[in-house]
Amino acid sequence: MTPERAAELTRQAQATLRANDRGGYTVPTAGLYPFQWDWDAAVTALGWIAFDELRAWEEFRWLLKGQWNGGAQDGFIPHIVFHQRADSYFPGPGEWGLEHLSPPTSSISQPPLHATMLRWMWQRASDKAAATGRLRELLPAIARHNAWWYRTRDPQNTGLVMSVHPWETGRDNAPAWDAPLARVPRATRPYRRRDTDHVDGRQRPTQDFYDRVVYLMDFMREANFDPVVIAHDGPFRVVDAAIVFILHRATRDLLALADELSITIDRPPLVAALARAEAAVPRLWSESLGLFANLDLVNGQLIEQPVHGGFLSWYAGVASAAQAATLSAWLAQAPFGVPSTRIGAASFERHRYWRGPVWQHMNLLIEAGLREAGEAALADSIQASSIALFERSGFHEYYDPIDGSGLGGTQFSWTAASWLFRQ
Ligand code: GLC
Repeated sequence: MTPERAAELTRQAQATLRANDRGGYTVPTAGLYPFQWDWDAAVTALGWIAFDELRAWEEFRWLLKGQWNGGAQDGFIPHIVFHQRADSYFPGPGEWGLEHLSPPTSSISQPPLHATMLRWMWQRASDKAAATGRLRELLPAIARHNAWWYRTRDPQNTGLVMSVHPWETGRDNAPAWDAPLARVPRATRPYRRRDTDHVDGRQRPTQDFYDRVVYLMDFMREANFDPVVIAHDGPFRVVDAAIVFILHRATRDLLALADELSITIDRPPLVAALARAEAAVPRLWSESLGLFANLDLVNGQLIEQPVHGGFLSWYAGVASAAQAATLSAWLAQAPFGVPSTRIGAASFERHRYWRGPVWQHMNLLIEAGLREAGEAALADSIQASSIALFERSGFHEYYDPIDGSGLGGTQFSWTAASWLFRQ
């Protein structure tokens, strides 16, 4: 890429974040997603730190306005914080049953990237005094969130936290969730989707998927958000390898950063949880896929679907030579980085959301883990193909993994942030 083209992309990426800024938090894209999303916010802050450091820390402060304090769910950070009203999105706060909160939120979480993104921001920040001040405020809250995961999503201390809704995994309609979701009844009440007002329905989840995820949302509201009931009786309970890996990495980063800055957090439960996870992760290895897979807790079976979340194992610090060979084989077919489902698999769909398309922030995270693990050739390959994808198609929500054309929403915040952080 020429330096001029790179500079132009940087200008466009900054303009994208500015355009999506709602005065302290960033919407993923106007229209389709008009609120603040949890893991989007964490990645988007990486973009802000590259050109407006004070604004970057604000993203987290706004996210934490939605954190729940006290009670059985103490520390919970919701996947959506509804800072304002908007009719362009379904389901809104009334559907979640949490309209009375200030600000209203959803009742499920999302991949807990926070502590890792904060550590990367700390490393990048030039105003270390401001950064230290912000981290003193933010880290104890994030520590309570990680503790929430271990406490409520792994009440029996198995070492593997569960996810209770496909939206909680952040990779909503990944083929790994097909079989567990097929057991969930369909909602029979009327509701109106809004996503297909903004994006071609062939790039979005199916109606059948929506009926079942709405049922799950209703189930949690009717269970009065009781985490014990949800973890015990929830009709959808999976161990998402990506969440296990992201949480593991985040907790290590949290402990390291708190140590470095002498910030007091409640360490013993986190240290114990790390040891439990390390012992349990081998249970997720799928010999037939050559990849860490997901586990269906309702029937106890490993879910043998080739989806890309398992490639976050290096990011978590879990090395695997066999998996490096699997990733090489995937990348040989994929010119734009890691497809969300292996190209050629029966469940692969090149245009539909998390069933094949490439997502730039996933490329970034997988690559970072590979680089740290000394897998330089694989990391370089993902880096080169990610940059080629930015050059070809700019900042879409996701991309066709074969020809690199942009899909889903446009002017997308975490995609723009993934570019900015690479500079
Ligand atoms: C979709 C994605 C989810 C993301 C959200 C906002 O729901 O599946 O991962 O957080 O959009 O971008």
